[in-house]
Amino acid sequence: MPLDPLQPAPARGIPARRENLRIGVVGCGAFGESYLATLAGMTGIEVVAVTDAMPERARRLAKRYSIPNVSPSFQELVARADIDAVCVVTTEDQHFEPVMAALRHGKDVMVEKPMATRLDEAQRMMEAASEHGRVLMPGHLLRFEPRYATVKQQLAEGRLGRVLFLSARRNRTKGQGRIYKRTPLVFETAIHDIDLMLWFTCQKVASVRAWTVAAVAGQEPDLLCAALKFQDGAIGMFHASWLLPDRTAVFDDHLQVLATAGAANVDLLNAGLTLWPESGPEHPDTSYEPRLHGSIQGALREQLIYFARCCREQRLPTIVSAADGVEAVRVCAALVQSAVEDREIDL
Ligand SMILES: NC(=O)c1ccc[n+]([C@@H]2O[C@H](COP(=O)([O-])OP(=O)(O)OC[C@H]3O[C@@H](n4cnc5c(N)ncnc54)[C@H](O)[C@@H]3O)[C@@H](O)[C@H]2O)c1
Repeated sequence: MPLDPLQPAPARGIPARRENLRIGVVGCGAFGESYLATLAGMTGIEVVAVTDAMPERARRLAKRYSIPNVSPSFQELVARADIDAVCVVTTEDQHFEPVMAALRHGKDVMVEKPMATRLDEAQRMMEAASEHGRVLMPGHLLRFEPRYATVKQQLAEGRLGRVLFLSARRNRTKGQGRIYKRTPLVFETAIHDIDLMLWFTCQKVASVRAWTVAAVAGQEPDLLCAALKFQDGAIGMFHASWLLPDRTAVFDDHLQVLATAGAANVDLLNAGLTLWPESGPEHPDTSYEPRLHGSIQGALREQLIYFARCCREQRLPTIVSAADGVEAVRVCAALVQSAVEDREIDL
């Protein structure tokens, strides 16, 4: 096979240093595959084993990414002595058991968002990580996306002043909704904007109000519209939906921050790249997990590099902590309650 000119040239007899972080991945669905493809392109990482409740998924991805072991269960995977850290990428309401089992076996853990769909579970995970002295990092990916991270940095440096108002939208296609309506919209996608708002304001939420709308009465909501009041008086407003036609195939993500000494806008819809093949316009992802040079780049890779560094150096993550994951779940749970009870909820 001809060498890809963009790949590094083969090393000339210099042995690589073997200090790999040995990882197990629980959950081999769509995002589990994104994890495996990303980890495969990172140096100093060895994925030792994978598992999934649907074993054929684990076997298929193990073959595709040359992973030597397929564990019959997460219990077997987390007990392996040749694993240092575990990534839990299971369905949203199936994070608790694998995370707790991994922590009990002394593994460091990366858990996808939402950390849990129940506040008590998220709190117990955080307590268990502290009790066992392990790293527990929730996957709030956008903290590793350069545009959002730049806004955070500008705010932290005081250049924009104090945040007074934030607004966000996050629209996804109906097709994605057909898959992900299994979990309340707020835990599935709006949680990204909730986490960013908590990060940008450095405030706790005092009260929330949410409304949901379903295209077909009586079915799962297609849209969530919500307001957060922060303890210092700042307001956050956002909506998230599964309403875009499938052919749109875009990330319609926008966030605006209005602060006492300036403002910031992040717009992923106009990301600066449009392709016009004969089949119709395309807007490829350049942000979250773009596939370039034979591996995955972007925010997911940065998140995993940071997690691996925390594990190697045995440091607690500060860009995103277990407490941050718990706080996001607390706000999500209150928003679900607000929509159901049709009233403002104090936290
Ligand atoms: N940060 C992001 O941008 C982002 C994007 C997509 C998904 N996610 C998150 O990643 C997680 C996985 O999402 P997905 O899209 O891959 O879903 P998916 O349905 O494609 O895959 C989930 C997999 O978990 C497996 N599973 C469920 N319970 C299990 C258990 N107890 N043991 C082993 N395997 C189990 C299922 O069989 C399935 O294969 C979710 O929490 C989701 O919200 C995050």
